[in-house]
Amino acid sequence: MKKHIFLIGFMGVGKSTVSRKLKQLMHAEEIDMDAAIVRENGMSISEMFEKYGEEYFRDRETQMLRKIAEGSPAVVSCGGGCVLREENVAIMKECGTIVLLTATPTTIYYRVRNSKSRPILNGHMDVDYISGLMEKRRPAYEGACEISVSTDGKRPEKIAREILDKVSSDT
Ligand code: S3P
Repeated sequence: MKKHIFLIGFMGVGKSTVSRKLKQLMHAEEIDMDAAIVRENGMSISEMFEKYGEEYFRDRETQMLRKIAEGSPAVVSCGGGCVLREENVAIMKECGTIVLLTATPTTIYYRVRNSKSRPILNGHMDVDYISGLMEKRRPAYEGACEISVSTDGKRPEKIAREILDKVSSDT
């Protein structure tokens, strides 16, 4: 593996599950950005949002991406809002291939409806809100990615194999 593979996309599209599958198939290093940020800061994402606000968390994301960019190539599962900063997209483009995972708002809703650890959806756990936020973010997701794979109704292994087929041999 010569470059990073960054998995981006809305909450609940399956970035973490698919990155674990890619790790197995490629015998690659794998980094879950959210988990790494939680480990490094010693507090949950919800706590970070509550105590210091969203911008603080976004700064931690940028910091973590810079660190990942300097490290050896890995499959990286990004937080759903990672592409909202152009700076982050530039860092990812510089050192890797950006792969967008997609799913319909209804699929997302069923995957995340019991989650208590996604502050962005606190008090808004419904299909309409998810659909609205997804539309708002769509230009950022589509503008950042080189490859896009739909995940609706597919097993993680099938999604991972589709990504491997599409990712060029120089990754
Ligand atoms: C966020 C998505 C979350 C996490 C944070 C913010 C977002 O990651 O980074 O709660 O703004 O979409 P997942 O996409 O892994 O849920």
